[in-house]
Amino acid sequence: MVCAAEQRFGLGESMTYQTLGAVLIVLHAWMAQGAPAQEQIPEVNTEGWTSSEVCGECHQAIHAVWQHSLHSRSWTNGVFQAAYRRALDSFGPTGARQCLPCHAPTSRHTQDYEVAQPITAEGVTCDFCHSVKAVNLTGESCSVELDVGKAKYGPLRHAQSPAHRIVNSPLHTRSEFCAACHEYRNASGLTVLGTYSEWKASPYAKLGKQCQDCHMPLVPGRVVALNVKEKTPASVNLHDISGSHDLDRVREAITLKLDGVDWFGNRVWVFLEVTNRGSGHCFPTGLPMHRAVLEVVLRDRGIEIDRREIQFAVVMLDKEGRPLQHEHEVFLQAARIRSDTRLKPKEARKIEVSFRKVEAPKLTVSASLFYEYCTETIVADEAGERIEPVEMKFLVASVQRTITKPGG
Ligand code: HEC
Ligand code: HEC
Ligand code: HEC
Ligand code: HEC
Ligand code: HEC
Repeated sequence: MVCAAEQRFGLGESMTYQTLGAVLIVLHAWMAQGAPAQEQIPEVNTEGWTSSEVCGECHQAIHAVWQHSLHSRSWTNGVFQAAYRRALDSFGPTGARQCLPCHAPTSRHTQDYEVAQPITAEGVTCDFCHSVKAVNLTGESCSVELDVGKAKYGPLRHAQSPAHRIVNSPLHTRSEFCAACHEYRNASGLTVLGTYSEWKASPYAKLGKQCQDCHMPLVPGRVVALNVKEKTPASVNLHDISGSHDLDRVREAITLKLDGVDWFGNRVWVFLEVTNRGSGHCFPTGLPMHRAVLEVVLRDRGIEIDRREIQFAVVMLDKEGRPLQHEHEVFLQAARIRSDTRLKPKEARKIEVSFRKVEAPKLTVSASLFYEYCTETIVADEAGERIEPVEMKFLVASVQRTITKPGG
């Protein structure tokens, strides 16, 4: 069971909970000192897209955190690039182009499908999100209305900037904004990514708890550097946007309880409960390759004698009924859902597992819940670049109990 988190980001890049800690320290440092004085005010391109590097000259605290997010690597990361190359091989440039609206979203406006411009490779970049004027959720897949150039759309009410026009946008504080990319229905009409609709049907939507409330909490940090503007809010929304790669957060959200073990003759029943306490959508959500697996194992003095596995996953099939196991296939070929056993928001699921022919006098019952993602990534070394499989497997929760056979 190798935990290959580092490889997730490909080409040696890695983002862990620890680096987020480091980023927060940097953020505090900026709060205290402001920024080094600059000769020239960096200029926003009022005619088209502006690089995150330019935004980052003034919005340093936000840039420092975004830089380490998966959003900033949505185009470059090795896992995406491996799948994108498979899409090119299987479906050609026109098929693979369908990945760009979310992984290289400025192409929605520039039509740079060759990814020739540096801004396209910036992926989910500052200027894309802050040029979104409206999100249209009624179409086949979500379309956005963009206002590219002078204006920056955001949540602040009384902000003023010498660098760009500011438009107050309540949309940016709502889940509908994220739905632009976190909800996807393909050409066959099948919902491949349903994070937004899972949330919309959940108690969180009724309570008004948005994606941003969980994924972009307010943290200390200046909205703009001191030399640009002295009076600015002292907190920013965390742009790291961590999800399941933040293990502490998954462990807080998902719990596992052992309700009891019954043993009659040579049969053993194990009663468990798995609860999605704190995730605002299904667990797992997003790609159907994200799975959770509950492993229940019986051991006699340390030696495994039997086991059961229960999956929490959605299985998608193509037109011929073949299960799809790769990202590029689900986006383009998924036609229907065979089964969906994921945990809904706030769902507490009772699970009963039974074993036959148990002969031992004493048993240890253990149950472990894992989060898994099996995929591929690009590996680069002296021999060149190639695609290799990666398996991510993290322990979310585990319980254990030792029992003696009744009357034995
Ligand atoms: C020359 C410095 C400078 C640059 C460069 C700059 N900004 Fe700003 N930005 C500001 C200032 C100043 C404010 C206002 C802060 C305040 O009033 O507290 C601001 C505010 C904002 C806001 C808040 C708007 C709101 O209503 O919530 C957003 C969003 C924003 N900028 C995005 C960007 C993006 C995206 C870029 C790059 C394309 C960028 N900025 C480049 C100085 C800059
Ligand atoms: C995935 C889209 C997305 C990306 C990428 C993004 N932002 Fe934001 N940004 C938001 C949202 C959404 C909010 C408002 C969150 C809220 O109010 O709940 C926000 C808030 C802000 C604000 C207002 C202050 C605050 O923190 O609330 C500024 C300034 C800002 N972003 C600048 C930037 C800069 C600079 C970058 C790139 C380094 C960037 N953003 C990247 C979505 C994005
Ligand atoms: C322009 C498209 C776009 C928008 C808008 C967007 N996202 Fe994403 N998001 C992505 C893509 C693409 C990825 C996958 C990046 C990758 O790993 O290659 C992603 C990944 C994520 C992840 C996964 C991180 C992890 O740990 O696995 C989270 C969480 C997330 N986004 C939350 C949000 C939230 C919250 C919003 C709204 C404030 C939002 N996103 C808006 C495109 C977008
Ligand atoms: C109540 C808090 C909460 C809300 C609301 C919420 N999330 Fe999450 N989200 C979590 C937690 C906790 C996790 C980690 C556990 C998991 O994977 O479900 C997570 C994980 C994710 C992931 C990573 C999935 C993976 O397996 O890599 C994405 C993407 C994501 N959320 C997007 C969103 C979007 C988009 C919305 C709004 C439509 C949203 N979330 C609303 C708490 C929340
Ligand atoms: C509607 C927007 C959208 C489209 C279109 C899209 N993706 Fe994604 N993709 C996402 C989001 C959002 C995530 C993060 C999902 C999550 O973790 O819940 C993601 C995640 C991924 C990941 C996992 C990356 C990682 O770091 O874990 C791969 C691989 C991927 N997409 C490949 C593709 C390919 C290949 C295509 C085109 C055939 C494609 N995507 C089209 C939105 C999209």
